[in-house]
Amino acid sequence: MFTPSLSLRRLRLVTVAFPTTAERLCAADAARFHDAMRVQRAEEPISLDDDLVLAGDNLPVLRRLPAGFFDVVYMDPPFNTGRARTLRATSATADDTATRIGFGGRRYRSRLLSSLSYEDEFADYLGFLEPRLAEVRRLLAVHGTLYFHIDYREAHYCKLLLDEIFGRDAFLNEIIWAYDYGAKPRRRWPAKHDTILAYVRTPGAHHFDADAVEREPYMAPGLVGPEKAARGKRPTDVWFHTIVATGGAERTGYPTQKPAGVVRRLVAASSRPGGWCLDPFAGSGTLGAVCGELGRRFVLIDSSAAAVEVMRVRLAGGRAAARRGRVSPALPARAART
Ligand SMILES: C[S@@+](CC[C@H](N)C(=O)[O-])C[C@H]1O[C@@H](n2cnc3c(N)ncnc32)[C@H](O)[C@@H]1O
Repeated sequence: MFTPSLSLRRLRLVTVAFPTTAERLCAADAARFHDAMRVQRAEEPISLDDDLVLAGDNLPVLRRLPAGFFDVVYMDPPFNTGRARTLRATSATADDTATRIGFGGRRYRSRLLSSLSYEDEFADYLGFLEPRLAEVRRLLAVHGTLYFHIDYREAHYCKLLLDEIFGRDAFLNEIIWAYDYGAKPRRRWPAKHDTILAYVRTPGAHHFDADAVEREPYMAPGLVGPEKAARGKRPTDVWFHTIVATGGAERTGYPTQKPAGVVRRLVAASSRPGGWCLDPFAGSGTLGAVCGELGRRFVLIDSSAAAVEVMRVRLAGGRAAARRGRVSPALPARAART
C-alpha cells in the first residue's frame, strides 16, 4: 500500500492556496521556495505553495485545481499499446552450471534486480482521455500551451479529439520526436518516432519564446556560411533526440521515461521562469526534473505508487543539483542522434 512520505527538505512555506492568475508566483517569488517539494496523496487538501507530487488518479485532482493556473501542461498518457509496460533490471554473474551462454561461450546466471510496470490497455481510450483533456484546457492560463505526447497507434484519433475540445484554430504544431533504438522489423518501415501535439488555450495569445530554446547544428552547415553555422539553427517541428540511454545518469528505471532534452525544449519555449507547469501522467517525473533546472514550478500526478516513489527520489534534490551544475545540460542535436 502507498504511504505518503513528505520531503524532509521543506523550507518555511507561505500558504497561498489556489491563488488567482493575477496572484501567481513571479520569478522573484520563486526564489523564496527553492529546494521545497511536497509528496502527498491526491485526496489530501491541495495547496499550491510548493512543487507538488500527487499520488492518485489524475481526473479528480484536475477537477480540484484552479482554472487558468498553468503555463504548460505536458501530458504523456499510456499509449494504449494493449500490454503492460514493464522495465526489468537484471544482473548477470558467471556460473558454469547456468544455461544462459554469453560472450566467449561463458555461462551466466541472470538475477532480477527490479521490475517496474504499469497497465496500458483501454476498452475506451478516447473516453478515458476526453474528460481529462477538457479539464486540462480549463487549467491552462490564457497564454498557456498543452503538449500532448502520443505514438502512431492513436495519434490521429487524439488529434481529432483535441480539435474538438480545443478548437482547430488552437492547434499550434505537430512535433515529431525521432529516435533510433530497438528492434527493426524487416516487413515494414520501423516505427521510430513519437508525436507531440501542441494546442494553445487562446489562439494568437500564447507565450512562445523561440530564443529560449537551445539551437542545433545545421544539417548542411556548408550552405549557410561560417557565422550562421557557428550559431546553429532554431529547431523545427522535427526533433532528433536519443531515447534515455540505458545505464546513463538520467535513467531512473521507470518504463517509458522520456528524455529531459525533449521536455526541456517545450518548457523553455512555452513558459517563463517562475511559471507553473503540470504533468497529469508524470511517471518518473521528467517534467519536474526539467522545471527544477529551468526555475519553473510544477505539479505532477501519477496513480502508480512506484512512479511516485521514483519521483520522490529523483526530484528531492533536483533544484539543488541543478544549481551545483550536476544536471546534465542539453545535448547538441547532432551528438544526441543515435
Ligand atoms: C507514459 S508514462 C509517463 C512517463 C513520463 N513522461 C516519464 O518521463 O517518466 C504514463 C504514466 O501515466 C500513469 N497513469 C496512467 N493512468 C493514470 C491516471 N488515471 N491517473 C494518473 N496517472 C496515470 C502511469 O502510472 C504511468 O506512470
